[in-house]
Amino acid sequence: MKQTINPAMNRYRRQFLRRVLSTAALGLVSGAAMPTRLLAGTTSGTVQAGGLAGLFAGDFKLGTALSNTTLLAQNPDTEALVAREFSAITAENAMKWEEIHPQAETWDWQRADHFVDFGQRHKMYTIGHTLVWHSQMPESVFVDQHGRLRPAAEVQKTMEDHIATLTDRYHGKIQAWDVVNEAVTDSGEWRKSHWYNTLGEGYFARAFHLAREADANAELLYNDYSMHLPAKRDFALEQITRFRRKGMPVDGVGMQAHVHLDDPALAELEASIEAIAAAGLDVHITELDVDVLPKAYDYMGAEISTNFEYSDELNPFPEALPQKVADELAFRYESLFKLFLKHRDKIRRVSLWGTTDGESWKNDWPVVGRTNYPLIFDREGQPKQAYYSVAGLKSGTQRG
Ligand code: XIL
Repeated sequence: MKQTINPAMNRYRRQFLRRVLSTAALGLVSGAAMPTRLLAGTTSGTVQAGGLAGLFAGDFKLGTALSNTTLLAQNPDTEALVAREFSAITAENAMKWEEIHPQAETWDWQRADHFVDFGQRHKMYTIGHTLVWHSQMPESVFVDQHGRLRPAAEVQKTMEDHIATLTDRYHGKIQAWDVVNEAVTDSGEWRKSHWYNTLGEGYFARAFHLAREADANAELLYNDYSMHLPAKRDFALEQITRFRRKGMPVDGVGMQAHVHLDDPALAELEASIEAIAAAGLDVHITELDVDVLPKAYDYMGAEISTNFEYSDELNPFPEALPQKVADELAFRYESLFKLFLKHRDKIRRVSLWGTTDGESWKNDWPVVGRTNYPLIFDREGQPKQAYYSVAGLKSGTQRG
């Protein structure tokens, strides 16, 4: 079903069109000729001028996550879209432990190689996600064939080999690693994961040291969800600062930013952006998406083991997003990017967690089988109103 065009959307298009045309007049548009169907409509327009990443080139990298479907070349259209619009890429799943290293002696490099190759070909800021995490892990790393927990020395060795093998293979081709993912609870304690329970807090610093030994140049990040929560953020920053004083190499903190239309408040996100920067670390917005569906409960995190039963009430827009909600989504994206622009001196990168709505994990999490609309490209790969609202923020500026 097609969305009707409302005046607000026309405003976004006009703003963006002005920006593109003025850029073209200065000869800054990539490709000599202007496209013939420039922004003809959200379901049929084309966008040029270096895409959205080009508009934000003087502010921060603009990234997306590549799904396995895209990486297995089943969707070359999405690849072309990514190359056109973004300047950074993260592998959504391809480098996670259970995918790339499913058994002790088995490595599956196919998707990850393709991902890194894509980054090289398109000269993209390429992020490795993720070296040490509690989710998407083969249990055999922690538990032997008799169901007994493995001793700490063995687990530590496995972690060391995993990090060394992965970082060596892509040495010089990955610009940033999410070294440790989600090590802190929302209430501000160490997460009692197998890693922590087996190795204690020392695993955290060890992982960063190993990553630096393998790659002297890659930026090393700690990444977590709900980083706007003061207790969580403060604990994470305290631990990072403490380890850093003892020599742990770390360059930045990733705020995943799986947000909703109305929460968290911008002020909460802003406080964390400022706190991370005040700790002397770069801010990376690593997994931005905006959930437009009813909350299964008041859960705001992104702990991926959470799941709720499907019901029609929880899936109110199976055919199309009502215009009113599309307006809210565009406004939310615009507000978020205004905030990011305000703190462009602190923010190194803003990455969306996926490219098109159809591919988003939010269709299946935390409730399987819903139709969500969390990104800035629709299911056909066309820019949404939210895209134009973000692009419109740069309409009055010129890129040098
Ligand atoms: C998600 C992926 O998007 C899904 O495809 C997968 O089934 C589960 O993981 N925090 C992270 C990401 O750091 O790796 C998660 O990605 C989303 C939450």
